[in-house]
Amino acid sequence: MNELLNKRIVLGLSGGIACYKAAELCRALVKAGAQVQVVMTQAATQFITPVTMQALSNQPVFESQWDERAPNNMAHINLTRQADLILVAPASADFMAKLLHGRADDLLSLMCLARPTASTQLVLAPAMNREMWSHPATQRNVEQLRSDGAHVLGVGAGEQACGETGDGRMLEPLEILQDVISLLTPKDLVGQQILLTAGPTFEALDPVRGLTNRSSGKMGYALAQSAHQRGAQVLLVSGPTHLTPPRGVRVIQVESALQMHQAVMAHVNESDVFIACAAVADWRATKPAEHKLKKNDQQSPPIFELMPNPDILADVCKSEKALRGQLFCVGFAAETENLEQNAKIKLNRKGAQVILGNLAQNTLGRDDNTLLWVDANGSFEMPNNTKAALASEVMRLIAQRLR
Ligand code: C5P
Repeated sequence: MNELLNKRIVLGLSGGIACYKAAELCRALVKAGAQVQVVMTQAATQFITPVTMQALSNQPVFESQWDERAPNNMAHINLTRQADLILVAPASADFMAKLLHGRADDLLSLMCLARPTASTQLVLAPAMNREMWSHPATQRNVEQLRSDGAHVLGVGAGEQACGETGDGRMLEPLEILQDVISLLTPKDLVGQQILLTAGPTFEALDPVRGLTNRSSGKMGYALAQSAHQRGAQVLLVSGPTHLTPPRGVRVIQVESALQMHQAVMAHVNESDVFIACAAVADWRATKPAEHKLKKNDQQSPPIFELMPNPDILADVCKSEKALRGQLFCVGFAAETENLEQNAKIKLNRKGAQVILGNLAQNTLGRDDNTLLWVDANGSFEMPNNTKAALASEVMRLIAQRLR
């Protein structure tokens, strides 16, 4: 992952037991390519040590506004002028109350007040006991902080460190990471409705067995996530996968090609872009058995008669919306050889604007891929990268074409 390459993030920790999750968050930000400068309040150092945060961020931690390491003794100015974003995680109830009043008696609150609002976003990930979270004072503060320009993230629900259950847990590190990437991603797909398919399909042979394939759904889910991060409204029609749906993306779970076809066709008219990333089974059993087929040594193994499934991409490309030129259609070609030639044939046969070719052996189940973008003007390779990075580049190119 390198969606945060060259981004500078100040990760602020205020006091709360959720500080233990800040270590994981720091690691995730660094893995995504960000340069992370950790700043901790004194209360935060009661929960996790600066040594841990220094090791994970690879930078000495700042704790005090009187820190002599800055030659001008103005860490609050130096660190915020270089930052793309200040992320306070956890943001305690007390810390948010303090920010609300523009108080600045420790380095972290001082930095929040001194940040250049035009270039350095402020993001708060609240974490507290459920009673503290639902208290009118906290809710009032959250509203006010939002109208003052801070991005206050939501909270998780569930069991809390104090033993109570309810709202107020800090979001999980990977959820915060997704929100941070969204905030730092150009919003070039705002106003676009994007419909995608992802994953394999499962075609039942009997109630327990079926035909499927090795598609993991990772490429389609990455595309859905990137489209959402760029500001699009996203509807993902997904076959069976083990993946967690991306935040902010609407998902319709289906099993068979027929169900996928039906779900897609029902949403074509409201869509501006259709991306067919699913590995749809070409055939299904003509008559799936009603009950589990029994093994019987005396009889020969069953023979299944197959019939073709509808071609979802081809049908969408033939829809009125697409024929009027109001739907940008993108398909995939998973081949094992002659990638360019096969992708070009598919471009014409399906009637899509773009076909993204990939070699099945280089993509199925993997976290990385290499793509060949093929359209009416020719083709070019998108070199090997993570599926997340390739998805971001594909969505950037689609946004460019839509303009
Ligand atoms: O025809 P083929 O399966 O090689 O084409 C691959 C492309 O067509 C992919 O974009 C895939 O999602 C889409 N497709 C489809 N419905 C099918 C078969 C493939 O949408 N029944």
